[in-house]
Amino acid sequence: MADANPFQDPQRFERRVPPCALVIFGANGDLTKRKLVPSLYRLAIERRLPQGFAIVGTSRTPLSDEAFREKMEAAVREHLENSHFDEAIWDEFARGLFYVAGDLASPDLYSALTARLAEVAQQRQTGGNILFYLSTQPSQYSTVARGLAPLARPNGGWRRLVVEKPFGHDDRSARELETALHECFTEDQLYRIDHYLGKETVQNILAFRFGNPIFEPLWNRQYIDHVQITAAESIGVEGRGAYYQEAGALRDMIQNHLLQVLATIAMEPSAVFEPGAVRDERAKLLRSIRPFRPADVATHAVAGQYGPAAIGGKDIPGFRAEPGVNPHAMTDTYAAVTFLIDNWRWAGVPFYVRSGKRMPKRVTDIAIRFRPVPHSLFSSESARPNLLILRIQPEEGISLRFSSKQPGSGMKLRPVSMDFNYGTSFGMRTPTAYETLLVDAMAGDPTLYTRQDMVEASWAAVQPILDVWANQPAPGPFPNYPAGTWGPAASDDMLAARGHVWRVP
Ligand code: BG6
Repeated sequence: MADANPFQDPQRFERRVPPCALVIFGANGDLTKRKLVPSLYRLAIERRLPQGFAIVGTSRTPLSDEAFREKMEAAVREHLENSHFDEAIWDEFARGLFYVAGDLASPDLYSALTARLAEVAQQRQTGGNILFYLSTQPSQYSTVARGLAPLARPNGGWRRLVVEKPFGHDDRSARELETALHECFTEDQLYRIDHYLGKETVQNILAFRFGNPIFEPLWNRQYIDHVQITAAESIGVEGRGAYYQEAGALRDMIQNHLLQVLATIAMEPSAVFEPGAVRDERAKLLRSIRPFRPADVATHAVAGQYGPAAIGGKDIPGFRAEPGVNPHAMTDTYAAVTFLIDNWRWAGVPFYVRSGKRMPKRVTDIAIRFRPVPHSLFSSESARPNLLILRIQPEEGISLRFSSKQPGSGMKLRPVSMDFNYGTSFGMRTPTAYETLLVDAMAGDPTLYTRQDMVEASWAAVQPILDVWANQPAPGPFPNYPAGTWGPAASDDMLAARGHVWRVP
């Protein structure tokens, strides 16, 4: 029998999403256009949305529903990436798009929204279920949460609030935000999004570690020498100069995304795969990261900022010449940190984490370097320690380097690798992080969302560095790496001090 609901195909997907309305605050913003609506439309193409699904966009700009639909159509066409735009599915999807304009600080907006949501609930049969999505300027998060207080307690259906990063600008403001959110929402209504946790390749770390008994016995200080986590971007700040100059790489990428990746690599197995249990283990790991004393910061953290360069015949401006950026900005567009984990599994194993803008290429990966053989039978320069690389993006896969005998006489070794590639092994499109996370929030599964204790533990890990950098006359001299290179020399020196070198990904 034909499936009556074009948006839901139970054969293909196990997770059922109940009918609901998604209210996006910041509907005119970049995230909505680049990620949220294209991801939702892709879910519609793949029939993963319920029939009674609606999106209510809100922002200050007055727009009719029709104009909002047109804007979103243009955004989807532009940012769909690897999927085909289907007019018929768009028309069906667009019938569920609505818009309410208003000032986030004005009670009028919330009254208008309440009335509109009641109509939408009737028209689309959403059963009163509402997922609010905070994608405004972070400084407005508390205002919106308070405005939503009357809507947070439903008469029927559920209410949830998704909060985009950043969760605060430092440890203190993170706690203040938390207090404001909790005035209006209970903890089980709050979904703090860290999109790295939704990436397939990051989720696969858990499958790799805990679904394969051969690796886990080696996953400790006895066999692992050190770990390198790299998130390099070739782009600059892409029109986000004003935000980025206040944030910097340590806050923008390491405090959240990369510490979550580190926690996933290093956490203990949970007894069950349930939201509370998995998140408890991640949180425990984050709390085991050694907090730096101010005196340790110089030897454990490096800041960089890119300067101008000519790349491929094109002049790339330095960070300070980007639009919206103060020409004397002391922002770190590159940060590298040596984290140490104080527990039995990891004592003494450095976790080197680096992230930067305007690097030679876009690559995110985790390299796990094993210890060398205890006694070498072969010439030392030909045997190299095993290296396991978990490739997060843009290539997605896993490779294991090991030594092999080179054919011919004698016993010469050469490193070779065993490779797994998602594309060739599964032959299907990998869902984007936002698709996964939006479905999870609608289904009420917070496993891949971060929790306040994790947010606070991550701030505790980076705050001493931020404090030292903020209080010294200059973390620079900046700029200290030309655009298109792998960061400042001080970052290499940090690893050299422990006898290590950064891998070129
Ligand atoms: C965002 C940061 O959280 O993550 C951006 O604010 C960064 O500066 C982006 O570019 C990277 O995400 P992805 O998924 O492209 O690696």
